[in-house]
Amino acid sequence: MSKISVAVLGATGPIGQRFVQMLEGHPYFEVEGLYASERSDGKRFGDIVKIRDCEFSDETMGIRIKTMDIDRISKNAELVFSGIPSELAGPTESELAGKGMAVFTNAGSHRMDRHVPILIPEINPDHASSIEQQDTYGNGGYIVTNANCSSTGIAMPLFALDRKFGLDEVFVSTYQALSGAGYPGVPSLDAVGNVIPFIDKEEEKMESELTKILGGYSKDGFKPADFKVMANCARVPVVDGHLESLVIKFESSPSLEDISCALSEFRGEAQTLKLPSAPDAPIIVRTEKNRPQPIYDVLAGSPERAKGMASTVGRIRESNGFCKMFVLSHNTLRGGAGGSVLNAELFKAKGLLR
Ligand SMILES: NC(=O)c1ccc[n+]([C@@H]2O[C@H](COP(=O)([O-])OP(=O)(O)OC[C@H]3O[C@@H](n4cnc5c(N)ncnc54)[C@H](OP(=O)(O)O)[C@@H]3O)[C@@H](O)[C@H]2O)c1
Repeated sequence: MSKISVAVLGATGPIGQRFVQMLEGHPYFEVEGLYASERSDGKRFGDIVKIRDCEFSDETMGIRIKTMDIDRISKNAELVFSGIPSELAGPTESELAGKGMAVFTNAGSHRMDRHVPILIPEINPDHASSIEQQDTYGNGGYIVTNANCSSTGIAMPLFALDRKFGLDEVFVSTYQALSGAGYPGVPSLDAVGNVIPFIDKEEEKMESELTKILGGYSKDGFKPADFKVMANCARVPVVDGHLESLVIKFESSPSLEDISCALSEFRGEAQTLKLPSAPDAPIIVRTEKNRPQPIYDVLAGSPERAKGMASTVGRIRESNGFCKMFVLSHNTLRGGAGGSVLNAELFKAKGLLR
C-alpha cells in the first residue's frame, strides 16, 4: 500500500516536532516536507529539535527545513498537518483548503467556524461529515481542527461521564505546562519558581470548545451541548503535561464507583477501528492518593505509538453534592500533534481522504 504524502507546517515548534515524532515509521503517512519560516530555511531537523523524551532516526534528523510555500506544498503533498501560529493559520489554511488540500490543524483560527469540526475520534467521529458543507469541499479541500490543548485532555472524561450521568455544571482549573506556550514561550525569569494566573483567551476557548465538541451536528451547523463550563487557567513551571482540576455537578447522582467504572471502561471509535495512534484505553484511572503527576503520567497510553495519547484521571471524590477529580494529559501529543494525526487516521480508516 502506498503511503499518503504529508507536509508539516510549523515543523520547528513544539507541535511541529511532535508531528515529526508521530509520523516516524507511520503505517499510513510519509513526510513530503517540513516547513517553517524563512528563519529556519535550510536547517537540519536535527539542529532544531528540542524534544528530550524520544529519539529520531538519522534520516529524520537530516531532513532540511524549507520555507513554507503554499504552491509547492499543494503540488507535492496530499495532506497537511499544521502547527503554525493562529494569526498565520487562518489565511494559510483557508488557502490550502481552497487548493484542494486536506488540512488537519492545531491552530485555533478555524475551530469555531460554522462547518469546521473540532474532532476527537473517541467522542464525535460523526462531526467529520461537517466538512462536506465547507465551501472548498467541492474542490476536494477541507479543514479539520483539534481542540485547544487544555480542552482535549478533559473532553474524553467529560464525554464518558455525560453520556452516563448527564453533566450540569463543570468548573475547571488548569495547571498548564510551559510547552503549551510554544518556543521560546514564557521568559525563564517569569516562569521559574512562579505560577502565572493568566493565559490569553484560554478560558474563553475552553468554555466554548468543550460544548461544541460534546454537542451535535446537522447540516444547519453545530448545536452545543447544554451544560455550563467555568474555567480558570494558570501556567506552571512544568515542561509537558496539563494537569486540570474538575468539579462537576451531574444531573443524576452516580456513586464514586459508578464514575470510576464509566471512565476506565470508556472506549470510542478510535479503539473500535484500532487506529495506529489510538491508546488501547483512552482514560486511565489511578487510585493512588497523589496521582496523576506530570513526571510519572504524562506519557500514559499504549501501545508504543500511543504514548502520551491517554488522559489520566485520579483523586475522584465527592463533596457537597459535587464530584471532584484531577485529569492529566500531554498537551503537545494528545492535546496537539497526536490529536491531529489521530483525526487523519480516522479519515483514512473511514475512507474519507480524497
Ligand atoms: N504548544 C501546545 O501545547 C499547543 C497545543 C495545541 C495547539 N497549539 C497551537 O498549535 C500551533 C503551534 O504551536 P507551537 O506551540 O508549536 O508554536 P510555536 O512555538 O510558536 O511554533 C510556531 C511554528 O510556526 C512557524 N512560523 C512562525 N511564523 C511563520 C511564518 N511567517 N511562516 C512560516 N512558518 C512560521 C515557526 O517557524 P520558525 O521556527 O522558523 O519561526 C514554528 O515552526 C499554534 O497555533 C498553537 O496555538 C499549541
